Amino acid sequence: MRVERVVVSAEEIAARIPVLARDIAEGLGAEPRDPVLVAVMTGALIFAADLVRHLPVPLRLSLATVSSYPGTATSSQGARLKGELPQDLAGRDVILVDDILDSGRTLRLVQARMPELEPASLRTCVLLRKRIPSALETPCDHIGFDIPDVFVVGYGLDYDGYYRNLPAVHAMVPTATA
Ligand code: IMP
Ligand code: MG
Repeated sequence: MRVERVVVSAEEIAARIPVLARDIAEGLGAEPRDPVLVAVMTGALIFAADLVRHLPVPLRLSLATVSSYPGTATSSQGARLKGELPQDLAGRDVILVDDILDSGRTLRLVQARMPELEPASLRTCVLLRKRIPSALETPCDHIGFDIPDVFVVGYGLDYDGYYRNLPAVHAMVPTATA
């Protein structure tokens, strides 16, 4: 696999994040209920870090770890929650943040588990959404960019753990094998 063309540039991301943050803040309304932003690890790490700094509301930051693309897989192997969801969400406005919406399994898994934690509200936000039916049909409140159905890395997204540190989102393409 080789890192190739830029799909979303660092500049495009930087311009979009304040707009997303404003939309999220508006969605919380005039009287937010002790909001907590739950970032899905590890892919949403960079995005969430940039996003929270543009959210003009007092909030707490929490983490959930979901694994769906273990190792060198480039298609979802089924979402699995590692450990527990944050247990202190009752009565609070929860903003769930993930890097990319693909099969939709990650968001659906976390959404399905939320009611038992009794948050006051749940809103979801992803930086990227692939233009494929499984992603388009998964309810999500805030979407940064719709992108083609390619495997991407950078800005938090990985291939076998690598490339999360790239400032832009790039397509990864298979290298020809001899
Ligand atoms: P879903 O559960 O299939 O919607 O995929 C969500 C998770 O799969 C994301 O949080 C990523 O960790 C991973 N993922 C999906 N598509 C890609 C991709 O193109 N590159 C890297 N990781 C991806
Ligand atoms: Mg992920």
